[in-house]
Amino acid sequence: MNEKPSYLGLLNAISNAEGDAQQYLAAWAATTQREDVKAIISTVALREGEHSLAFAKRMCELGYEVQPREDPKCAQRMAIASSCTLSDFEKFEQLGLGEPVAEGAPDVFTSMFADTTIDIQTGGLLGRYIAEERDSGRLFRSCREVLECEAATAAPAASAERLDRIEALLEQLVTKLGS
Ligand SMILES: [Fe+2]
Repeated sequence: MNEKPSYLGLLNAISNAEGDAQQYLAAWAATTQREDVKAIISTVALREGEHSLAFAKRMCELGYEVQPREDPKCAQRMAIASSCTLSDFEKFEQLGLGEPVAEGAPDVFTSMFADTTIDIQTGGLLGRYIAEERDSGRLFRSCREVLECEAATAAPAASAERLDRIEALLEQLVTKLGS
């Protein structure tokens, strides 16, 4: 291929973004206390890392090198993902992952095949990448949903505890007043 492929920028952007995601997801997997969450986050982190390398490899095969791009949000995402004080649910919320999607609505990947000049090998890679990303989205959504349900059911227990404490304090107060 002599002419510079028009989709080179897309391949470069994917390689960079996936590499960043692998790093912050690995940091999250290392800090979570839950094995079930860890299994999901680690799976997606590995996929991201492999995507980053696969797209860098494809660029190389086409005769080009990945141009590193610094994402200004990268440090912030890393701080959230590696936090030991945020819950897993809070991490989902703050990273904007696992958010509900409208069924059948176009997503960020829908337009990636709009370029009709994409060669067969790159097209194959892109197709696998898109299918895996969408599956990762489903994994994230189901994990976030479980954590959200748990947080919602844990909240009344916490309020019951608070009510018990308030009751005990009131009893002490009444005893004091009566003495
Ligand atoms: Fe990704």
